[in-house]
Amino acid sequence: MPKVTIDDRTIEVHAGTTVIQAAEQLGIFIPHYCYHPGLSIAGSCRMCLVEIEKNPKLQIACYTMVTDGMVVRTTTPAVTIARAAILEFLLANHPLDCPVCDQAGECKLQEFYMRFGRYDSTLLEDKLKKHKAIPIGPHIILDSERCILCSRCTRFVDEVTKTHELAIFNRGSHAELLPVRDAVVDNPYSGCLADVCPVGALTDRDFRFQVRVWYLEKTESICHGCARGCNIEIHTNRRRTHHNNGRLIARFKPRHNADVNGYWICDAGRYSYKGLESDDRLLSPAARGQAGLSWTDALAQVDEQVTSAIAAHGVGSVAVIATPSLSNEEIWALRRLFREGMKVDAIAHLCPPDPNGVTDDLLRQADTFPNSFGASVIIPGSPPAVESVLSSAADGRIKTLFVIGSGLAERIASERLKEALSRVELAIAIQTHHSVVTEAATFAMPMTTYAECTGTVTNSAGRVQRFWSAMPPLGDSRPLLDILADLAARWEVPSAPRDPQSCFAELAGCVEYYAGLTYATLGSIGVNPRQMAVPSA
Ligand code: SF4
Ligand code: SF4
Ligand code: FES
Repeated sequence: MPKVTIDDRTIEVHAGTTVIQAAEQLGIFIPHYCYHPGLSIAGSCRMCLVEIEKNPKLQIACYTMVTDGMVVRTTTPAVTIARAAILEFLLANHPLDCPVCDQAGECKLQEFYMRFGRYDSTLLEDKLKKHKAIPIGPHIILDSERCILCSRCTRFVDEVTKTHELAIFNRGSHAELLPVRDAVVDNPYSGCLADVCPVGALTDRDFRFQVRVWYLEKTESICHGCARGCNIEIHTNRRRTHHNNGRLIARFKPRHNADVNGYWICDAGRYSYKGLESDDRLLSPAARGQAGLSWTDALAQVDEQVTSAIAAHGVGSVAVIATPSLSNEEIWALRRLFREGMKVDAIAHLCPPDPNGVTDDLLRQADTFPNSFGASVIIPGSPPAVESVLSSAADGRIKTLFVIGSGLAERIASERLKEALSRVELAIAIQTHHSVVTEAATFAMPMTTYAECTGTVTNSAGRVQRFWSAMPPLGDSRPLLDILADLAARWEVPSAPRDPQSCFAELAGCVEYYAGLTYATLGSIGVNPRQMAVPSA
């Protein structure tokens, strides 16, 4: 393996490693624009110039492979002058409209000018005018004047989505990034263009002008839009609550995980954050004809009516539908309460497919539940299908039905759900949102979404990944672990711990698939137990 010395520090790297990658491994930052680790190398912006011993001219770090014994310097006077000159060149026709640019605060032109530019402008000529603020697709707006022609976006649509909507036209100072002919940039990953563009040329129409980025806080999470389990950051705005239309969540951004989603997320997942604070969130417990119940009253009434129903019809008349929208901890707590505590056999999690689910070659999966794998591992035996439970409810064999977790209304016809829920004597919905399920249920109790609680999900490949709470519970919604523990206390059966970490520890101690895992070992990018080394005897 070749050894390279960068700024007097030596490292051994794999053959084929570039200077910029070796520097990164040493924690040495080399500024760059066109280089993006998820794309091919263009070597066009020249921002990454470094001095390499025995080379008469500066070399680009993004394209130069490390060779054994190479000595690189990244902060010499020649490098410093070159960087400032490149910045002056890139900014020659830039409109300098940072105060009204949505990228301000996370723009690599701003950042590098302050760190490596700071030249005195000698520009006498007028700046060239180019196209401004063109919506080029449902999610992306283009400001050509701010473009530095790094070609990250064209490589993204050529190499990642293979949809080829963008290209650079004309030559010299007149070169301009534009859609090809009348192409609309509406591929299912188009939001990633705002992420790859290092400047304010491609911005997100949805996020634009909602809130300044320096007010945002970041929480690591997992997209719950499908079984891929892409790693994301939830960006929340707590410091300017009058901005962003009063919503806390301002956007989702991809979080790199080489084993799951690389650098990308799909648009459906990216914009799914809107549902987390939508107007149809269920915010307080309710009973049929009795809105705005307190939690104490709701739990007391559910306790009393479930106890009477079981006394009258036996526990065999109780069924639970638990959709795989729930976390591993929630499914475990539900199993502890209903299967082991109440001795309910019928716990159904196998739902019909989502008609809107799509599988593609990049990330999206047709299963739009985040935790089907976890549900199938945690609920043992051969659980009934959700549709068969609904049939039993509709024909009167089930008298008490719990429906816990979201996603049924998207998969099962409203009439079928209404019929099943209205035929049972007692239907208890524990849900995040209003839907036909909460409308038809005897009791509706609000639970938090994954953005308001902590837990883990297991993706379709079996990878167990953590998500963290990004905001307080909306309205009177409560974490499902608390709701189930309260019911367990009333029914005098043991419950899973309310604390997600302890709940996961209990799960890992009982379900073989999770054996040996803890929140600490999962870290921020998760673990796939199927790929863990088997300890030698
Ligand atoms: S629009 Fe952005 S990503 Fe595309 S070439 Fe211009 S600066 Fe680069
Ligand atoms: S591919 Fe699935 S998990 Fe990934 S961002 Fe899209 S919806 Fe979310
Ligand atoms: S980052 Fe190396 S030339 Fe652009």
